[in-house]
Amino acid sequence: MEIGGVKISGKAALAPMASVADRAYRLICKEQGAGYLVSEMISAKGLCYGDRKTEELCTVDDRERPYALQIFGEESAYCGRAAGLLMKYKPDILDINMGCPVPKIAGNGAGSALMKDIDRAYSIVKAAVENSDVPVTIKIRAGWDEEHINAPEFAAAMESAGAAAVAVHGRTKTQMYRGKADWEIIKQVREKVKIPVIGNGDITTPEEAVLMYRQTNCDLVMIGRGSYGNPWIFRDVESFIANGANGNVPAPPSLEERLSVMLKQAEYAVSFKGERIAMKEARRTCAFYLRGIKNAAAYRSRCGTLQSLSDLEKLAEEILHNEN
Ligand SMILES: Cc1cc2nc3c(=O)[nH]c(=O)nc-3n(C[C@H](O)[C@H](O)[C@H](O)COP(=O)(O)O)c2cc1C
Repeated sequence: MEIGGVKISGKAALAPMASVADRAYRLICKEQGAGYLVSEMISAKGLCYGDRKTEELCTVDDRERPYALQIFGEESAYCGRAAGLLMKYKPDILDINMGCPVPKIAGNGAGSALMKDIDRAYSIVKAAVENSDVPVTIKIRAGWDEEHINAPEFAAAMESAGAAAVAVHGRTKTQMYRGKADWEIIKQVREKVKIPVIGNGDITTPEEAVLMYRQTNCDLVMIGRGSYGNPWIFRDVESFIANGANGNVPAPPSLEERLSVMLKQAEYAVSFKGERIAMKEARRTCAFYLRGIKNAAAYRSRCGTLQSLSDLEKLAEEILHNEN
């Protein structure tokens, strides 16, 4: 599939996840077959004011391509300016967050709050398109709440403002992450617009990815939480689509491979963020890799005490020695 002329060759994209899907995480998912990656959300206003921390989120690593930088904001003037500023980082795609439910974002009129204000959202997309050299896409939810499910009309309006694709997470804002994602709404968006539709919500297995393709006719599926500690899901989706009918899917990663990818993600993170920050974050990310192994609970609680990469190397060696 293509988004505004940008070719996406894989069958599953990694969802943007602030504070989780950082560059280390994204690279690991890419190495396991993720076809498209999106940055953590970046504040349009922060960019316009030259906030250093915000700018750090904008780095584009060529290994991640095709890659989108995602902005959030509630004012078209800032979003337009931010779109222009982001061009110097040379993303392949510019995405606008219209789905975030957290009070800090939606409470200020950005993220999912834009779904209640189509005119404002329209002017934001238009301003971004006018200032961007690359395709502009949006990521939305089903709607604000049960009484205001408007994803199809909303997506059509954004298409007329110039959006080149729409990712739909099938939950309302008020649902946050509770309940089940409604895939029917993704299908309805697919029927309403001509631009590519990316389906998102609750995919945790290759079978579910195929089911989403079948049930919604979406052009690409996007996986978020289902990739926690399981970047192999991208490889599995790819393989399941190619060979699933023969039951010919890759064996799950061995303990050795699991630990080696866990270490690699931590090494990447250390190289990008420095050991202190990276290892603090690794306490959470590494625990995900250890789900389901023998004596997981004890090893996962050890993750909570990680201080250095060598602590993690020792833990991995110990697990391999004890459990293999
Ligand atoms: C920790 C976390 C952070 C997220 N951050 C973002 C974000 O920065 N931008 C965005 O558009 N969506 C964000 N999302 C939403 C995901 O992209 C995705 O839509 C949602 O998790 C549903 O997909 P899943 O069921 O595959 O996880 C975030 C979700 C989680 C769990």
